Amino acid sequence: MRTFRKQTRGALLTGLILLLGTWMVGPASAAETGVGADDPGYKKCVRCHDEESEHPVLSILMTKHGVVADSRTPMANDACTTCHGPSQAHMDDDALPPDVTFEEKDASIGIAQCQSCHNGKQLMHWQGSKHQMENVACVGCHSAHVAQDPVLDKTTEPDVCLTCHQDQRASLTKPFRHPLREGEMSCSGCHNPHGSTSKGNLVRNTVNETCNTCHADKRGPFLWEHQPASEDCTICHSPHGSVHMGMLKQRGPWLCQTCHMANQHPSSAYSGTGLPGATRPSGAQQMLGRNCMNCHGEVHGTNHPSGARFTR
Ligand code: HEC
Ligand code: HEC
Ligand code: HEC
Ligand code: HEC
Ligand code: HEC
Ligand code: HEC
Ligand code: HEC
Ligand code: HEC
Ligand code: HEC
Ligand code: HEC
Repeated sequence: MRTFRKQTRGALLTGLILLLGTWMVGPASAAETGVGADDPGYKKCVRCHDEESEHPVLSILMTKHGVVADSRTPMANDACTTCHGPSQAHMDDDALPPDVTFEEKDASIGIAQCQSCHNGKQLMHWQGSKHQMENVACVGCHSAHVAQDPVLDKTTEPDVCLTCHQDQRASLTKPFRHPLREGEMSCSGCHNPHGSTSKGNLVRNTVNETCNTCHADKRGPFLWEHQPASEDCTICHSPHGSVHMGMLKQRGPWLCQTCHMANQHPSSAYSGTGLPGATRPSGAQQMLGRNCMNCHGEVHGTNHPSGARFTR
């Protein structure tokens, strides 16, 4: 009785240790002990490709693709060969590549492979999008063999995009910019990398709708609309960053003066000419050296009854 108990306890303990080991050591041992390990599509590859090989690949078991309990995943189907194809030639001679390598040269084969499962709402606008047209493959952004795909993490996503988008990389070094480097938001806060119905792959149909998903206070309709603000925020702002405060394209008063010429009002707030009441020294003095926004603080539009000039 005693010995029996001891044995059972021993077995239980071993089981527990195995389980713990699996959990702690991670994918490799999970694979050896776990479900799916017997799958021929798995077995025949991991003989040569494991966590110790030159290109470790088993972290895929820690991703959604590795969830065997989910019957839709590659690992629940033919494991490695679901994505890479049966690859008989590679099995016979490992100097020959497997059927699908996801390399750039056969981008379309790789994309078709991913799209055999991913063809729903998320990728509705992929066909015809800039990335699709320019042959950027799914793996141009996604990584299959890491526990956490960097492009799916807000803090690391921009780095993936910036490997190709050098202009935006440069903009993000400017002093006034969105908090991307801080991980508070990412490119996909404004862009849908899989394509969209708007110009520039924006997440909404227009620039303004896109900006207003976060800047709701700038969303009209206002009693007094400022035409450019209701038309397109990027008339005045550079969304990727700027050397001017407030991410403005130009500094005031020049920004305003690209449209507002001197008629009844000053053409330059830095000189006294043309100022209202310029004949009175105090009037000129009031304007001199001041920015348009000191008085017209509500350039995005306002609901104040006497805000027609965006002064309140
Ligand atoms: C007999 C050993 C062996 C077997 C079995 C094997 N491979 Fe390979 N595989 C290699 C070697 C060697 C390389 C080249 C070195 C490397 O990239 O690790 C390679 C390379 C690869 C590559 C990279 C190819 C490239 O051109 O970049 C992929 C993908 C791959 N194997 C997938 C698989 C899949 C999927 C299976 C199972 C169907 C499999 N391998 C089975 C040995 C093997
Ligand atoms: C979801 C589809 C998918 C599944 C399932 C999958 N792979 Fe891959 N594999 C890829 C993609 C995509 C790449 C290209 C590089 C990347 O994204 O990391 C790749 C690259 C590779 C490479 C080359 C790695 C390198 O760094 O050059 C090997 C080897 C490989 N896979 C082996 C396997 C093995 C073995 C399995 C099964 C345990 C497997 N793959 C399962 C999609 C998959
Ligand atoms: C056999 C079907 C199948 C194939 C092939 C496949 N996937 Fe998946 N993928 C899935 C399933 C199922 C999920 C989990 C979806 C969920 O949880 O809603 C998933 C999830 C994902 C996710 C989200 C991961 C996350 O952590 O949220 C990405 C990204 C992805 N797949 C990209 C790819 C890419 C790129 C390829 C081609 C290299 C590919 N998939 C091939 C079935 C597949
Ligand atoms: C230009 C980069 C890029 C390309 C190319 C790309 N993706 Fe994505 N993908 C992303 C980003 C970024 C996200 C996260 C989006 C988000 O959080 O709104 C994502 C998310 C996903 C998801 C998860 C969706 C979810 O809701 O969890 C799947 C699945 C996916 N991509 C599949 C694919 C497939 C399949 C392809 C190729 C046809 C592809 N992606 C091409 C960048 C890309
Ligand atoms: C592998 C390279 C590559 C990666 C990675 C990449 N892109 Fe692109 N992207 C391109 C190319 C090529 C174009 C087309 C030429 C251009 O406009 O620069 C493009 C175009 C775009 C456009 C303009 C679309 C249009 O309709 O004008 C946007 C927006 C964009 N990418 C956003 C992203 C975002 C966001 C990411 C990261 C999630 C990303 N890209 C990752 C290569 C890439
Ligand atoms: C705050 C919103 C916002 C963020 C964040 C953002 N973009 Fe944009 N992006 C825009 C707008 C707006 C446009 C102009 C769209 C149009 O054509 O009207 C644009 C245009 C682009 C274009 C097209 C070329 C161009 O310069 O006109 C590319 C490429 C691009 N963005 C890449 C990126 C990348 C990469 C990131 C992340 C590092 C990023 N964007 C982050 C709003 C944003
Ligand atoms: C995903 C959310 C999001 C979207 C979409 C977004 N923004 Fe922002 N925006 C932010 C955050 C977060 C800040 C930083 C706020 C802070 O620091 O208080 C910010 C700050 C700003 C600032 C002030 C910068 C400064 O230096 O004071 C401007 C201007 C701005 N955004 C314009 C835009 C424009 C234009 C668009 C559309 C092209 C846009 N934003 C889209 C989140 C967003
Ligand atoms: C006519 C030019 C103009 C247009 C168009 C414009 N803005 Fe502005 N915006 C400004 C000026 C000027 C500032 C003040 C910058 C400063 O603080 O120095 C500003 C500041 C901001 C700020 C930071 C301060 C605050 O008020 O929260 C945000 C956010 C912002 N704008 C978002 C937007 C959005 C969203 C749109 C589109 C709906 C937009 N802007 C359109 C001129 C404009
Ligand atoms: C892209 C051109 C453009 C820019 C840049 C611009 N505005 Fe305007 N603004 C307009 C238009 C168009 C109207 C409407 C004029 C009308 O109704 O006669 C307007 C109206 C106004 C009005 C009300 C005038 C009236 O007659 O009702 C004020 C005040 C004003 N803008 C101030 C500014 C300030 C301050 C800036 C700089 C932050 C600025 N604007 C930048 C185009 C612009
Ligand atoms: C010292 C405050 C002040 C400054 C600085 C200022 N404005 Fe004004 N502005 C006003 C007031 C007050 C009115 C309304 C005058 C009226 O109702 O007759 C006005 C009216 C306007 C109008 C409407 C003109 C019209 O025909 O009724 C425009 C456009 C305008 N300002 C643009 C600008 C621009 C552009 C700048 C910067 C170069 C600027 N303002 C700087 C106070 C100022």
